[in-house]
Amino acid sequence: MVAETSLSVQQLVQPLFVADANNVQKSISAIPGIFQYSLDNILREVEECLKLNLTNFILFPIIEQSLKDDDASYSHHPRNFFFHAIRMIKQEFPETCLIGDVSLNTYHPTGADGIIIDNKVDNDRTLPILAAISLAQCDAGIDILAPSDMMDGRVGYIREVLEDQGFSDISIMAHSVKYASSFYQPFRNLMESNIDNNSKKCYQLNPANIREAIREAQLDIAEDVDFLMVTPALHYLDVIHRIKEQTNLPLAAFHVSGEYAMLKAAAQNGWLDYHQSLEETLISIKRAGADIVISYGAKDFAKLRKS
Ligand code: PBG
Repeated sequence: MVAETSLSVQQLVQPLFVADANNVQKSISAIPGIFQYSLDNILREVEECLKLNLTNFILFPIIEQSLKDDDASYSHHPRNFFFHAIRMIKQEFPETCLIGDVSLNTYHPTGADGIIIDNKVDNDRTLPILAAISLAQCDAGIDILAPSDMMDGRVGYIREVLEDQGFSDISIMAHSVKYASSFYQPFRNLMESNIDNNSKKCYQLNPANIREAIREAQLDIAEDVDFLMVTPALHYLDVIHRIKEQTNLPLAAFHVSGEYAMLKAAAQNGWLDYHQSLEETLISIKRAGADIVISYGAKDFAKLRKS
């Protein structure tokens, strides 16, 4: 009766990793409790989540090293299995809300976020590739695009291309406030990316800054973004709070791989109760001001609600 904050399964998003394989459900050692699914198995996983009232998913592809190149050309190749996966899930389960990660780094041999010129990411040469990835995902049936790199001007650029091509009803949920964080490490281990985090500090945020975070959110709003996002979540609760106070768009927060893996590791050692600490973590992110919480623990939370 006196609880000031509540969190429902409808406000949660489960990340899902898709691999180009058959009949594979492989556990991911870098992110305990999380699996990579082949095209056939992902449908079963989505169905299980739907039975728990969990309908929102953010999708990431796992790309073989041999398909990665400096132009990230496979990222928008018509035969990219990722688009096939999106199409299949949407056709089988139209009631899902599918969010697609839009970035080059999963397709780049070093995990870089853009086209490298003179040892630096070239912002403006990267934008057309982000737009091509976005268009291919829209064609496949994605509901929401989630550009995750922090290139300047990407929201406006993608928006214009979408409008031109008749995709005016697709939403953009940008990682508007993405920190150059060390808490993405488990995700990067999974993607076999060995990028030096410091190299991202010229376009992702310095963990010491909050005013800059507000500026970044305002820039995305000016470019017609539909949802804002703060990434990571748990170490940036004050940032979530400030963005919520100063803006009016739906606000998502990404409880990232390293933040989740910390809970799991402590639980595996018997130092924390996983379910209790997960519930406390997710409600804290909500209390700080997030409307939507993306977490690897979403399905576990949904199970708790059902039991
Ligand atoms: C890919 C992407 C990342 C995350 C969201 N999209 C990883 C990164 O930027 O290296 C964070 C995922 C996580 O750590 O759980 N661009």
